[in-house]
Order: sequence, then C-alpha cells, then structure tokens
Amino acid sequence: MGVGAGGDWRADLASVLLTEKQIQDRVAALGTEIAAAYQGKNPLVIGVLKGSVVFLADLIRRIDIPLEIDLVCLSSYGQAANSSGQPLLLKDLAVPVAGRHLLVVEDIIDSGVTLSHLLALLQQRGPASIGVCALLSKPARRETDVPVDYTGFEIPDEFVVGYGLDYAEHYRSLPYVAVLKPEVYETPPTAATPSD
Ligand code: IMP
Ligand code: MG
Repeated sequence: MGVGAGGDWRADLASVLLTEKQIQDRVAALGTEIAAAYQGKNPLVIGVLKGSVVFLADLIRRIDIPLEIDLVCLSSYGQAANSSGQPLLLKDLAVPVAGRHLLVVEDIIDSGVTLSHLLALLQQRGPASIGVCALLSKPARRETDVPVDYTGFEIPDEFVVGYGLDYAEHYRSLPYVAVLKPEVYETPPTAATPSD
C-alpha cells in the first residue's frame, strides 16, 4: 500500500494518539506559560519548517505578549521515516538575532540531532537567550542530550503524523496526531524526500 492509497488518508492511520481537543488545551497552557516567562522580552519565536507551522500558528495566538516570528528550514535527507546524518540549512532566518531572546518551536524531538545542530548555529550569533518548545518528544529515541524547556506531550516510539507532521509530505493537514500504520512506511516512496 502506498501513501494515501485510494485518496483516503484515514485508512493509513492505526489510531488517533492526540485528539484536536487534547492538543488545543495543551497549546493554550504552553502559551500561558511562555507568555509569563517572556513578558517584556519581545521574543523572536522561530518556527522550524515545515513540521512546526501548524503548531506555531496555534501557539503564537496563545502567547498573549508582544513577540516576533521568523522561520528556518533544516532538513536531513534519506528514508522519509528516519532521520540521520547532519541536517542541512535549507532556509536561514531573515533577521539578526544578536541580543534577542529566542524561542525555537519544533514539531517533534526524536534523536535530537536536528535541534542540537540548530541550537549550535544560533548560539554562534550571540542571542540573549535560547529556549525550546516542542509539541512532541520521543524520549526513547534520544541520541543527543538537548534542552527542551516546554514540551507538549511525551509520546512512545511510534511514527506519528498530523498537526504539521508528515510522512513523505502527506498528512500534515490532519487536525490531530495519529499513529501511521507500519505497512505505509514499509513501502518506501521512490525518491528521497526531506524527513522534515
Ligand atoms: P531528530 O533530529 O531525530 O530529532 O528529528 C526531528 C525531525 O524528524 C522532526 O522535526 C520530524 O521532521 C522528523 N520526525 C521524527 N519523528 C517523527 C514522527 O514520528 N513523525 C513525523 N516526523 C518525525
Ligand atoms: Mg521538523
């Protein structure tokens, strides 16, 4: 079976892991926490493309203080269900970050390789602080110790899609997070795609 076979994405999902309501409640709580921590700091909230866009859009509307946003795109190439090797910087920030309070927003921390690479890169530019907010974390998969200040949900070691997260670029627009049936990614797509 291929990705989205028969045009019915839902047939590719094993189960819903996080409902729309669970996600929205948690995002609201994270927003309140972040607003309190960054009051008066005019943070630059940095979304990591593409996986974080849905989360970023919801989260910033729950952070009730002045803030700015920017976007980076980091990607590793290879098997779409795996992430390995050194991430590539496909799109840099549009603004200088020296002296700024940065909050990196990620969809999911898996091995931690992508995030550690991004944090090292940002650190070189002399920000006042760097915080990290991830919707999801898979602690069982961690290879590098990365600091995550705000975590939406810790999840088991299963491949999930929806709410911005993809498999081979599909399923990002689902409003919930679901476990993908293993048979979907056991039939790999023909071309190598960014796992981001
Ligand atoms: P890391 O560098 O191994 O932490 O990988 C992080 C990136 O891998 C995320 O930003 C996602 O793009 C991708 N990723 C890891 N696990 C999943 C998953 O379960 N579903 C979808 N994408 C994932
Ligand atoms: Mg990502």
